[in-house]
Order: sequence, then structure tokens, then C-alpha cells
Amino acid sequence: DDCFTSAMALTDSGVLHVPTRYILPPSQRPMLGSSIGSDTITLPVIDLSLLHDPLLRPCVIHEIEMACKGFGFFQIINHGISSSVVKDALDAATRFFDLPVDEKMLLGSDNVHTPVRYGTSFNHSKDKVHYWREFIKHYSHPLSKWIDLWPSNPPCYKEKVGKYAEATHVLHKQLIEAISESLGLEKNYLQEEIEEDSQVMAVNCYPACPEPEIALGMPPHSDFGSLTILLQSSEGLQIMDCNKNWVCVPYIEGALIVQLGDQIEVMSNGIYKSVVHRVTVNKDYKRLSFASLHSLPLHKKISPALELVNENKPAAYGEFSFNDFLDYISSNDITQQRFIDTLK
Ligand code: SIN
Ligand code: FE2
Repeated sequence: DDCFTSAMALTDSGVLHVPTRYILPPSQRPMLGSSIGSDTITLPVIDLSLLHDPLLRPCVIHEIEMACKGFGFFQIINHGISSSVVKDALDAATRFFDLPVDEKMLLGSDNVHTPVRYGTSFNHSKDKVHYWREFIKHYSHPLSKWIDLWPSNPPCYKEKVGKYAEATHVLHKQLIEAISESLGLEKNYLQEEIEEDSQVMAVNCYPACPEPEIALGMPPHSDFGSLTILLQSSEGLQIMDCNKNWVCVPYIEGALIVQLGDQIEVMSNGIYKSVVHRVTVNKDYKRLSFASLHSLPLHKKISPALELVNENKPAAYGEFSFNDFLDYISSNDITQQRFIDTLK
């Protein structure tokens, strides 16, 4: 089927040109190497271990506040996930994507409600232009509920990626607490929701691409959840700055990237913004990433925190749930518009 041939095209290392369906209209091309779209920004780099020091915590919370009000993107170091856990997860993912296409396709699905699914592009059945990416996405929390459905090949996958998923879940809780505090809310403002939150691990592989200047690995979008913790094996991610220029996110060995999602934008009543980002590809090597997508439970409606709404700052968004979002993306092209802007 079409999804199958799409995956074949990506893994066929012999191709000199990208097949037509991957070629973006000129206005959407990344134009790598020209002056546009190749600036690298310095994102704030926050040492998360200092959060545990009661004397230093307020300073770190302030740094987080500044980072969230700026780009809404920051890097974290000393985040508590060991380099061996990270390396093992990347190894397991590499081995999964190296499997023959027909074996990966056993997990293939275009249905966004499928708890474990392999796919290509962004939204394979909807994309007018396809993206140079293959991925495996799996529900990851609570781990024991889902892990049996995860890939059983390579045999180490469940254990290694499972350890990384659990560690990111712990980290996510610390980040949400710090972000709540940075907004002047109680540290445990979203406590209950976090206990039963949804965590989807999107493991992405962007093979080397013969014509990276006319294709993309992922189209511009903002993340719909509360926050995303991203591990990348090399550069490729770009974010849109306030002047609508694309800027590259630098690769920092050992660091993880934190991105605010739509639910935090809504919860903060727009004080923090979710960030539009995209993924470029390159000629020389394949890039891997793990995007741990955290969101409030499927059914839970989110709306601006009452503490952040007043006469001068009325609620800027209507409420929505993750389910509403899934329904929306099943029938709309979300690359044309941020989902969240439909709530205004
Ligand atoms: C994303 O999840 O939007 C970006 C993933 C990546 O950097 O590969
Ligand atoms: Fe994203």
C-alpha cells in the first residue's frame, strides 16, 4: 500500500532525488545554506539539579520563567537521566528502524487513536506533501499498561526504551511543578492531572535525504500537549522566532530540550506561548529523536487558571481536551493553523 512504498522510498539509500510527493511548494522549502533559516540561537541552558537546592530553587524558577516568556523553548542539563539510559534508548531505536520495512509495517497504522503505531510522514493519509520521516509512537504511561504492545524486536527495545520513558515521566513532573511555580501558582497546581496524565513517546528517524533543501522531516506545528521533552541525536530542529524567522536549535551533548505545548499556553492564559517548530533533514546522516509528549488525561478539559484571569486579563481561550484535539486533527490539516488558535 501507499504507506509501505513511502517507507521504502525513505530507506532506499540509492535515490539521488526525492520522489515528487516529498517536494515542498517553494514558499515552504527550508532553503538550507542561504542566509534565511540558518541562524542558530542560543537557547537558555538550565541546570535542573539546582532545583533541589532550597536556596537556589527560586533562582532556577526565575530562569524558567524568563525562558518560558522568551522562546518557550529551553535546554536542560543535569536533568537526572543518566547518559547510559539515553544511549541505550537511542541504540534500541536505531536497531528498530534498521529492521526490514515489512516487519515495521506490522505495527503500521494511520489511526491516531492506535496506542502503538509505526508510520511515515506527519499525518500520512492527510498530508498533501509527505515528510522525510518514519516514526514509532507508543503510549507510555502507566508503562505496565502499554509496554506489552511495544515492538518486540529488537528484543531489548521494551526494557531500554521503557527505562527512558519512566525517567522522562519523573522529569516531566518536576518540570510541571517548576513551571506552575514560575507562573505564581501552587507547585502542585496540576498534581492530580499529572498522576493520570498521558505520555506518548514519539520516536523519530529522519534518514539522510538527497535533497534536504526542498523537503522537511516534519512540517511547522506547535505541540498540543502540556510539554514535550525532546532528546535529539544531532541538529535538525528549528523554531519560529517572534519575527517569523526560522532559527536552528543547537545540539548540546547530554542536554534535553523542553518545549511548551498548547495546554500550557491555555493554562497560563497566554502568558506563556507554545512554540511553532519544524524539522529539517540533511544529506549526510540519519537523525534520531525521542519526543516525550505529555498531556493532561484524554478527557480532561483544560482552561486558563482562575488565578491568572481577571478583569484586565479575561480568559483568552475556550476549554479543550486532548480528545478534542485528536478529533480535530483527524479531520483537519493542522499544518495550516495552530489548533489552539481555533479556541480563541
Ligand atoms: C517534534 O516532535 O516536533 C520534533 C521532533 C524532532 O526534533 O525530531
Ligand atoms: Fe513537535
